[in-house]
Amino acid sequence: MTATAGGSVPMIRAERVCKSFGALRVLAGVSLEVARGEVLCLIGPSGSGKSTFLRCINHLEQVDAGRLYVDGDLVGYRQKGDKLYELHPREAAKQRRDIGMVFQHFNLFPHRTALENIIEAPIQVKKVPKAKALERGRELLRRVGMADKADAYPAQLSGGQQQRVAIARALAMDPKLMLFDEPTSALDPELVGEVLTVMRELADSGMTMVVVTHEMGFAREVADQLVFMDGGVVVESGPPREVLAEPKQERTKVFLSRLL
Ligand SMILES: Nc1ncnc2c1ncn2[C@@H]1O[C@H](COP(=O)(O)OP(=O)(O)O)[C@@H](O)[C@H]1O
Ligand SMILES: [Mg+2]
Repeated sequence: MTATAGGSVPMIRAERVCKSFGALRVLAGVSLEVARGEVLCLIGPSGSGKSTFLRCINHLEQVDAGRLYVDGDLVGYRQKGDKLYELHPREAAKQRRDIGMVFQHFNLFPHRTALENIIEAPIQVKKVPKAKALERGRELLRRVGMADKADAYPAQLSGGQQQRVAIARALAMDPKLMLFDEPTSALDPELVGEVLTVMRELADSGMTMVVVTHEMGFAREVADQLVFMDGGVVVESGPPREVLAEPKQERTKVFLSRLL
């Protein structure tokens, strides 16, 4: 993919991305673009394809049709002339390595401490020397406000603390892009703020982020783009303040009115 005149290559470019599971059409032509350093918040009813779209970006799901580029590279395929060839699993894994993902359920290793959880992938996958991984791990724990919990096991941490460790774990791979799939929706309400604060700081540091969330305060304050998806397509998108204050589409209005 070539850069557009005057601009750099976007971090994400989705062109009419389609994905079905059997007869169920989950993504029916999703097009959007995320510039470098931009934060996109994705909202939409349950089942509208938000998680599937994130998983396609991360190549945990194969796109059926359309094109998806991350940092200029076609996700999961190599293009030769008009033909697409699936990437070797090894190459696909390499692409995925540059993309951090944070899920609703943090999935930390229960028998490893916070710090051990963070250094696992850098050591195993990137072959970072242990001393270096430990140093970086501690730095990341500081960054997410968890410096004093390096030796705690997940069961000894609150949900908010576990999610902050999960964010640090994703950052330990030095991703160029971070995907968040409802990172606060499993948390008790009083723990949501501490996770959103870490995410906001990450956004301020210039990280490119796609965040599926229904935290509209976060979307309003932090996102550059708010995208409303329904039925596997982008129904409406724009600056969050505009979309939230004056949604143009009826479906967006109905969705937001139920949410607020
Ligand atoms: N691996 C899968 N196999 C079959 N159906 C799936 C799979 N993953 C998701 N779906 C279905 O796709 C639809 C969209 O799911 P999802 O992307 O998780 O939506 P959202 O995140 O917006 O709630 C749902 O109907 C879901 O049941
Ligand atoms: Mg989902």
